[in-house]
Amino acid sequence: MKHVSFVIFALIATFALAPHASAQAPKKPGQTIFGEDRKATMKAMRGISKALGEKCTYCHVKEGGKVVYTTDTPHKQAARQMKSAFIDSLVANGQAEASFDHHGKSKVIKANYTTKGDDAGIHLVAQEGEGEQHTLKVSLPKKGEALNCKTCHGGRVHILAKEEKK
Ligand code: HEC
Ligand code: HEC
Repeated sequence: MKHVSFVIFALIATFALAPHASAQAPKKPGQTIFGEDRKATMKAMRGISKALGEKCTYCHVKEGGKVVYTTDTPHKQAARQMKSAFIDSLVANGQAEASFDHHGKSKVIKANYTTKGDDAGIHLVAQEGEGEQHTLKVSLPKKGEALNCKTCHGGRVHILAKEEKK
């Protein structure tokens, strides 16, 4: 019985870790999911910082006085989720979901991309743990513009906090 449960655990662990493992497959130096080489990555990084209104060190950490960009952090992982769930598949699928760890609780964000009717826009729902659901509607990207971090964030990381109903 012990063996069986270990095998099951190992299987779960393998599946749970698989997306992270593939996101960190060996690549060219500076190649990331945001850019194919260091130059493109850096350009994307400046855009992300601006879109969120945060410094590089919001996601990257200093080690021995120097920022080490390759070190993983919770905010880096959240940013990866945002990229794969929202930038890469929201428009194509019409809806997407991201979930990441936020102060020890799981934060789930759902987005619905509606292009037609009075309801047109990006409908966002966020929930932390068993907490209250926060909703927000964001305008679709302008004609000819692609959905990007700024479309939803508009210069701030936390866009839903203000929606709190008291
Ligand atoms: C919102 C989070 C976030 C912010 C802010 C941010 N980055 Fe990043 N950065 C990431 C993520 C996530 C990756 C890794 C992407 C991947 O795994 O493919 C990354 C990767 C990098 C890399 C490549 C590291 C490697 O693996 O080779 C460099 C260089 C970098 N960032 C520089 C910057 C600079 C400079 C700034 C500020 C202008 C910045 N970043 C701001 C999230 C962020
Ligand atoms: C479809 C809308 C949408 C897009 C596009 C989007 N985000 Fe987000 N993001 C959200 C929402 C909603 C939240 C939760 C905001 C809150 O807590 O108020 C969030 C939260 C975050 C957080 C905070 C995680 C935490 O610990 O609370 C980071 C970092 C982030 N996004 C990075 C990005 C980056 C980088 C991009 C572009 C690659 C991006 N987002 C694109 C909707 C979006």
